[in-house]
Amino acid sequence: MPVMTKRVMSYCLENMQIKNFKTISSTNTYALEHFDVLDDFCVVIADIQTAGRGRFDRTWVSHEENNIYLSFVLKPENKKYITNLTQYLSVVTARTIESYDVSPQIKWPNDVLINGKKVCGILCESKLKYSNILGVVLGIGVNLNMKQETIDSIDRPATALNLETGKIINKKEFLSKLLNEFEKDYHKVLEQGFGFFKTDYLKRIDFLGKKVYIQQRDGAQKEEYIAKDIDENGNLIVLTTENTEKTILSGDLIL
Ligand code: BTN
Repeated sequence: MPVMTKRVMSYCLENMQIKNFKTISSTNTYALEHFDVLDDFCVVIADIQTAGRGRFDRTWVSHEENNIYLSFVLKPENKKYITNLTQYLSVVTARTIESYDVSPQIKWPNDVLINGKKVCGILCESKLKYSNILGVVLGIGVNLNMKQETIDSIDRPATALNLETGKIINKKEFLSKLLNEFEKDYHKVLEQGFGFFKTDYLKRIDFLGKKVYIQQRDGAQKEEYIAKDIDENGNLIVLTTENTEKTILSGDLIL
C-alpha cells in the first residue's frame, strides 16, 4: 500500500479529474493500485513523494514541494500508439520549459535536459490484465525549484528550472501550461503515433552523429555506438563499432 497522508483535494480542471495529495509514496504506485477506479485522463499529483521511483528502479528525489510529481492515468480505446505518449510528454515538457526562455534538449528516449543536465524524468508503466494492456500510468517529475546543494546531492548531472533561469518558478502556472499542452495533441498522437510529433522531437535532440553508450540497466555493461537516427516509431538507430545498423528499442542513453 502506498504511504498517504492528508489528501488535499480532488477536483476537475476542464474535464480533467485531478487527485491532489500532500504526501504520497509515489503517484505512479497510487495510480497503478487504483487504476480501475480512477477516470481515464485522471491526474494524480503530490507535493512530496516518500518513495518516488525512476526508470531502472532508481530513486527520484521527491522531497521538494515546489517541484512537479504527477502521473496521468490513461485508458484510451485505441492503444496502438499508447507507448509513444512517453516521448510525446517529453516534447510537451520541452515546449513548456521553452516558455521560460530556456532551450532544453531531449535525451532519447524521454529525458529532458537543460545544458546537458536532467531537469525532467518520465516513467511510463503499463497496467495489464492477463496479457492485455488496459492502459498506462505516465509519471513525470520536473525539478522546478531546488537548492543547488540538493541538486549536488543527486548522483547524476541534474538541474532545476529556477537555477537555470535565476527566477522562482510558479508551480501552478507551470502545471497548468503542462497539462494544457499535453491535452492539446493527445488524441492526434493516439491516432498517428510518433510520426505526428517526430519533427518536434528531432528539433530538440543534439546527439545524432555522436558517440553514445547504451546501458540496459544500472551496472550492466555499456555498449558503444554512433547515434544515427530516430525511426518512425521513436526507436534509436545506431551504428555498431563494426559499422552495422542496429535498432535500439529501450535503454539508457549515455552521451
Ligand atoms: C526517470 O527519469 O528515471 C523517471 C523519473 C520519473 C519520476 C516521476 S515523479 C512522479 C511519478 N511518480 C514516481 O514515483 N515516479 C514518477
